[in-house]
Amino acid sequence: MKRIGILTSGGDAPGMNACIRAAVRAAIAQGLEIFGIRRGYAGLIHDEIELLNRRTVANIIHQGGTILGTARSSEFMTKQGRALAIENLDKREIEGLILIGGDGTFRGGTVLSQECGVSIIGVPGTIDNDVYGTDYTIGFDTAVNCALEAIDRIRDTALSHERLFFVEVMGHHTGFIALESGIAGGAEELLIPEAPLSVDELCSHLERNFNGEKRSAIVVVAETEQPGDSFRIARAVRDKLGFDSRVCILGHIQRGGSPTARDRVLAGKLGVAAVQMLAAGKSGYMVGEINWRIACTPLEYTWKKKKELNVELVEMRKLLCE
Ligand code: F6P
Repeated sequence: MKRIGILTSGGDAPGMNACIRAAVRAAIAQGLEIFGIRRGYAGLIHDEIELLNRRTVANIIHQGGTILGTARSSEFMTKQGRALAIENLDKREIEGLILIGGDGTFRGGTVLSQECGVSIIGVPGTIDNDVYGTDYTIGFDTAVNCALEAIDRIRDTALSHERLFFVEVMGHHTGFIALESGIAGGAEELLIPEAPLSVDELCSHLERNFNGEKRSAIVVVAETEQPGDSFRIARAVRDKLGFDSRVCILGHIQRGGSPTARDRVLAGKLGVAAVQMLAAGKSGYMVGEINWRIACTPLEYTWKKKKELNVELVEMRKLLCE
């Protein structure tokens, strides 16, 4: 293998740039040429591909987002779209691809690989941490710390006004961000899809809280299908208990910002591992980190298996969220 490509697809996540930088450095050290593909699969179809070198990835390690850009491409779902992508790979003799994203990114890449034989290695990059085969995804730690900072700030005003707050965090139908930021922020309750609470349960919990010594509370809510469900929950609590509350939806601020040290180190490790896998002739795997060690998982597991929340943390929340 002499030439490989790298792309970022799906939602951007802090640390993607650190991963691109690591992969470029590792590829050059292996004697490989590495091409950056802009806007994910859309750029592969529209031939937005350029050779990367150490200079083009200089001074990006601390930047959030992705210098390559990202997109969700419906064209790539079609055979005609992928045929154009294959032409662009063939004309540059690109034989391997590093795909940074989530399970949707890996699924698309697998179809492409089956159609043209290009080798593919996935790297988990999403703030949601909802990818099977890795303890943490690139971007998760930064997003959790962003949510935590917001929760800490909201606690100041919640305490001052003796108020109930609902803080809604992202997570793509999972509670990873809510669980970690909520526990770290000392939330009074967590609403996560993996361990649902009824409005009645939430209300009796809040009532206990406010009948005790507490005068304020923060409920961290994992975003559901549509962002903004917290408003419905807040209304239901007001109707039942008469509690006035405020809702704060953190939204896309969780996706931006400079990556934490933890995300940069993870991104570096996984970027290097991905290049090494391609250079060793491997394809169809995602490189992740399990118990601090590099772990390779067949790509199809990422969409066939569900990553579970840390059971101990879920249990612990009963003790810590009161
Ligand atoms: O997958 C990352 C994520 O930020 C989710 O947490 C969120 O639900 C979704 O992307 C938002 O997507 P978009 O960028 O299309 O608004």
